[in-house]
Amino acid sequence: MNRILFVCLGNICRSPMAETIMQDMVEKEGVEADFEIDSAGIISYHEGEKADGRMRNFAYQRGYFITHISRPVTTDDFRHFDYIVGMDDENIRALQSRAPSDSRAQIVRMTDFCREYTTDTVPDPYYGGAQGFTYVIDVLEDACRGMLDFLKEKK
Ligand code: 4NP
Repeated sequence: MNRILFVCLGNICRSPMAETIMQDMVEKEGVEADFEIDSAGIISYHEGEKADGRMRNFAYQRGYFITHISRPVTTDDFRHFDYIVGMDDENIRALQSRAPSDSRAQIVRMTDFCREYTTDTVPDPYYGGAQGFTYVIDVLEDACRGMLDFLKEKK
């Protein structure tokens, strides 16, 4: 079993998109029974909300349905998930500072799994235009592909 939690700041753009892409990939490969995939935010400001309407629309244009409802990261997430995947340095630092002493999760960077894109961050699209959202999908598709292949090889 691979338990993966994707994390970004608000849990309404990048991490619900990552969760949706990864879930789609494991289902297409018929290996969804081996995975538990979720997402959460560093902040709780958007708790209970659907993903950002722009993110959902751009996702839809690429064949993805985002159904996630925003929630903040909890201390128990560090005890439950194998991988907690941050989208940028700020996310990684916040996660490291919140990890309890009995955390079992490996905190990793989403872009470390990229093979086509050379970048160390999945940039926050919230305050930008359309291009930011499509770029997020492109980078996340690359990173999810890389992460899934890494986990399959590891088995
Ligand atoms: P996300 O984007 O971290 O990709 O979900 C953001 C959404 C909302 C805010 C920041 C980032 N916000 O500050 O409200």
